[in-house]
Amino acid sequence: MAQLWGGRFTKETDQLVYNFNASITFDQKFYREDMEGSMAHVKMLAAVGILTEKERDAILAGIEGILADVERGALVITSEYEDIHSFVEATLIDRIGDAGKKLHTGRSRNDQVALDMRLYTRKEIENLKGLVKDLLSVLHRLMKEHTDTYMPGFTHLQKAQPITLAHHFGAYMEMFKRDYDRLCDIYERMNYCPLGSGALAGTTYPLDRNMTAELLGFNGPTLNSMDSVSDRDYVIELLSAMSTIMMHLSRFSEEIIIWNSNEYRFVELDDAYSTGSSIMPQKKNPDIAELVRGKTGRVYGALMQILTTMKGIPLAYNKDMQEDKEFTFDAIDTVKGCLALFTGMIDTMTVNKDVMESSAKNGFTNATDAADYLVNRGVPFRDAHGIVGQLVLYCIDKNISLDDMSLEEYKTISPVFEADIYDAISLKTCVEKRETIGAPSKAAMEQVIAINEEYMKRIGE
Ligand code: ARG
Repeated sequence: MAQLWGGRFTKETDQLVYNFNASITFDQKFYREDMEGSMAHVKMLAAVGILTEKERDAILAGIEGILADVERGALVITSEYEDIHSFVEATLIDRIGDAGKKLHTGRSRNDQVALDMRLYTRKEIENLKGLVKDLLSVLHRLMKEHTDTYMPGFTHLQKAQPITLAHHFGAYMEMFKRDYDRLCDIYERMNYCPLGSGALAGTTYPLDRNMTAELLGFNGPTLNSMDSVSDRDYVIELLSAMSTIMMHLSRFSEEIIIWNSNEYRFVELDDAYSTGSSIMPQKKNPDIAELVRGKTGRVYGALMQILTTMKGIPLAYNKDMQEDKEFTFDAIDTVKGCLALFTGMIDTMTVNKDVMESSAKNGFTNATDAADYLVNRGVPFRDAHGIVGQLVLYCIDKNISLDDMSLEEYKTISPVFEADIYDAISLKTCVEKRETIGAPSKAAMEQVIAINEEYMKRIGE
């Protein structure tokens, strides 16, 4: 048991209490951020005259040595220390002696851990942005390739109206663009430095909080020391944004699973992204998509956990807040894994254009357009709706599509139909007539693709 606070105690901590209280098994994940924060703190302490330059240099060299040794595996972080902060301080004192004992001047573990968590999540937001960007560029490519790939659009999972695959992917492009923008917003809002807030009420030392903020790449110092040590809003915002990313990935996965099924065959997943069955030799399963869908629950769980942990905590720091880490770390790693795997999966899948197109043809997805045809020839919409309903019933009975009916058959149901009905309800016409921005026609899609091209440039594809 190595603790920083034995002075006022007359008894050893009970081992079970020690274990229950310790966080080293998980907070070692931000050993790098902890040491970077300490180095900035020490530079500032020297700049304001609290440490001599000699002390500063000894501490900096000591921390750099510890960091290098940890990174190359020469120094192992063990659970004999309570937390990562204790590990670094104790190792430093061990290595450089008395100067090391000055490291914690004007600092508390409360503002230290608040800083570490911010530095860690800030770094991970950048990693997440990179992965969302990779997914966006695959979607952008697929959109450009599939402006002529016709398929049915669905409502209630029933064929509704024809669209293109570019249009379908475009919906996800919008979702992941919002996800990307959300990550940027969170980064901006959280990018203030809590260091210098002390335990809760600042410190009596003349700390230069602007300097540490600047050294660590923050926009400035946080403005209330009590809030600084007990604010985990940015963790909640990040988990919320990651939950939304997972919700989008999960919906997309669900569609890929359906499209990849034997019944649909709209797409075929690459062998490298599929798995087999131990008993059924014919199987090629979409396990990756299923796992992404499944792991969504895990990330939502982390969001619920931190929201619940935070809800009853009075100001300022309370130990409950140590619970902000494990689920958050797990959620970040989960979302990063899901984004990378999902991107690879859709990047390599084969699109069965013909199957998609014939599915659009065979599902009466042009029924609305047949009704519009009548409306354009003076039939009130409600009557047109009824007439086309009769056509559909007739086709179902004969097991044919609207395109297969003869003009005579059309005319028996309504004399308004003429030979141009076939062109009016062709898949191509149905899609290409939908020209307003946001609609599936090639012209409309190309406008959106151009906007997305700019977006991708802006985020630095
Ligand atoms: N391990 C603690 C945490 O993660 C560090 C802060 C400890 N502060 C304290 N006053 N016990 O929250």
